[in-house]
Amino acid sequence: MATTAPVLPAFEIDEARLSRELAELATMTSVEPSAVGTAVTRVVFTSDDHTARAWLKGLADEEGFSVRADAVGNTFFRWEGADPKLAAIASGSHVDAIPHAGMYDGTVGVLGGLEAMRALKAAGLKPLRSIELVLLTSEEPTRFGIGCLGSRLIAGVLDAARADSLPDLMPKAEVGATLATVRAEAGFCGPLESCRLEAGHYAGWVELHIEQGPLLEREGMPLGIVTSIAAPAGYRFTIEGVGGHAGALLMPDRRDALCAASEVILSIERHTLAANAASGTNDTVATVGTCDVHPGAVNSVPSRVTLQLDIRDTDPERRESVMQSVRADIDGISERRAVTIKEEFVNADAPATSGAGIVQAIEEACAAEKIVAKKMVSRAYHDSSFMARIAPVAMIFIPSRNGVSHRPDEYSSPESIALGTRILALTLAKLASA
Ligand code: GLV
Ligand code: MN
Ligand code: MN
Repeated sequence: MATTAPVLPAFEIDEARLSRELAELATMTSVEPSAVGTAVTRVVFTSDDHTARAWLKGLADEEGFSVRADAVGNTFFRWEGADPKLAAIASGSHVDAIPHAGMYDGTVGVLGGLEAMRALKAAGLKPLRSIELVLLTSEEPTRFGIGCLGSRLIAGVLDAARADSLPDLMPKAEVGATLATVRAEAGFCGPLESCRLEAGHYAGWVELHIEQGPLLEREGMPLGIVTSIAAPAGYRFTIEGVGGHAGALLMPDRRDALCAASEVILSIERHTLAANAASGTNDTVATVGTCDVHPGAVNSVPSRVTLQLDIRDTDPERRESVMQSVRADIDGISERRAVTIKEEFVNADAPATSGAGIVQAIEEACAAEKIVAKKMVSRAYHDSSFMARIAPVAMIFIPSRNGVSHRPDEYSSPESIALGTRILALTLAKLASA
């Protein structure tokens, strides 16, 4: 039987408005200027984050989209469809930014999603399904030590009590502050269990994001379609040694926690490189991105060090075998240096696979615009990793200049952002029409 495709009105992405709004959002930061690009630090539930949230709400209000926030601050901007009882189609990303980051990570997906909805609405589209833009809380692990906090809670993969007890890692955090106290202060109350959305709540999820890697640019491809997302894991190590006077404590008597921590870091690097050499890939990556030294004085031998490890792989078993090798080294390091090394588990996630139907919808949108897109793996994690637990998902990637991200010189061109937004709009329109 022949089916009639719904007519999609011609629509325009307002590239200038999108660029202007990205630049305006980038001013909501409290970071020293950078010589190489726009530096942004916007940690969740800081005043910059609240300013950004209020500003976005204002933009959504202007369009008549309804706004709802859940107990962790995930915020849902909804354009009601002709049949509101049907599962909605959703898009979204994050606006929090790690310290001294750039202005495109996450923000392109939020403002691009809003622009896509506005453009379709202005063109007179009447979607059958509702379309929602979701601003997800704390995709970055800066404040609470675990990434994708909001989408984990939506997907029910993070226990609510554990989430509420996550300590506030901000350098000036109040003693005993946790997610529970910080979110309440931010005005997001109620049990975290209520953030959970059932599988099927959304009929599909599409996230627009910068690639954050070099492949699209290198291969001259205008866009990417993400077919899977590598599996991240996080651990914290606390190394306890014995402190003392930097002049008087003799070298043979030392149990320096920072020296032991250095060996742990190098062990992680060594086993990661060995895993890549064995697999003939570069799929295993590991980073110790923070190192807190106590008491942190130049003339005091470090007595306690805390490290945060971020380790990822397309193959979670290989990631775990690197961890096993590191643990074996740790036993030796702690014995030889007479220190204790405690490992704390933060998260160990599975890779996510895109939904075939969503990938196909993006491919069809690209074909309609005569765009050839690269199917690719995302090595960065995204909220889509967790939205995949409750809905079929896929992501649209746009090229990142020199593959740079999490730095002030992160850059994607206005044309690429507008193109990605156009493909997002076409995809959302298509998915919301059936
Ligand atoms: C996201 O910011 C990531 O670290 O992959
Ligand atoms: Mn990021
Ligand atoms: Mn991101």
